[in-house]
Amino acid sequence: VKKMILDVDTGVDDAMAITYAVADPEVELIGVLSSYGNIDAQRASDNALKVLHLLHADNVPVFIGETDPLDHKYQRIAINAQIHGENGIGDVELTETETSAESQNGVDFLIESAKKYGKDLTVVATGPMTNIAAAIKKDHDAMKMVGNITIMGGALTVPGNVTPVAEANIEQDPVAANEMFTSDLEITMVGLDVTLRTLLTKKETKQWRETNTEAGEKMADIVDFYIDVYDDIYPELGGCSLHDPLAVGVAIDPSFVDYLHMNIMVTTEHDAYYARTIGDKARLNDPETNVNVAVTVDKERYLKVFMDNFLTLFNK
Ligand code: BDR
Ligand code: CA
Repeated sequence: VKKMILDVDTGVDDAMAITYAVADPEVELIGVLSSYGNIDAQRASDNALKVLHLLHADNVPVFIGETDPLDHKYQRIAINAQIHGENGIGDVELTETETSAESQNGVDFLIESAKKYGKDLTVVATGPMTNIAAAIKKDHDAMKMVGNITIMGGALTVPGNVTPVAEANIEQDPVAANEMFTSDLEITMVGLDVTLRTLLTKKETKQWRETNTEAGEKMADIVDFYIDVYDDIYPELGGCSLHDPLAVGVAIDPSFVDYLHMNIMVTTEHDAYYARTIGDKARLNDPETNVNVAVTVDKERYLKVFMDNFLTLFNK
């Protein structure tokens, strides 16, 4: 069983990422780290606590991480509210919890866990890369010991979702993302290349409702909001993208996707190419590569595991 830390900006698909990590029998979720992004870091942590409570997983501690990007120029809270709802979780009201976020800083928790568990630790980041960049800056050697760092972010072979070249998590803090990619840490990048191909429809959320459980029904309400938004913005897709839960799935079973192994950088100049994930010119001929970029996905097999995990958890 792998120990996992999830670094989330609890929006709708982050809530699904938490659910997947709680549900998968191969993972022990040892902590959730919140970041600003879809919503501010405080509310991202409140949402994570409420989702964990809904899933009867209140034992998982939640930590607040970085509250602002290293690069302050582009914050998009208003646009994000359209996609994830004013409260970040599809404007669905979840029961308040007795538990609150831990007092320890999230970045310190990450570093401490890296030292404690080393290669047995898997870190999955599904928000901006600010927490990871801060942890690398603070204790590179500790972060280098982590077994696996998988991120949802970027777009290599398909257009971005914020601009033609930029994906949201990278665009929230391109400077942090660039520091992470150009460090010597091994990163698995689960970008729009694969997440725009793994889709969920109301056929699936209907099965959650049919469990007649509070968790199944509330998660269906949250995700149906997102499916409606996707139907408006991306009618050609025919469902909502499983961005963040795919990253969790790939961290657990890397064989869901195929990879290009390369060195990635992020463009940080404020021009039309801002926040693009692209091959690092300086390391194009370096035989050593540190980023495994997911480019194809076995979506049928993934969706089956995803649904099995969710239904088993709801029916528990
Ligand atoms: C990413 O952006 C956020 O809005 C989602 O939660 C996901 O992490 C997709 O680009
Ligand atoms: Ca996210």
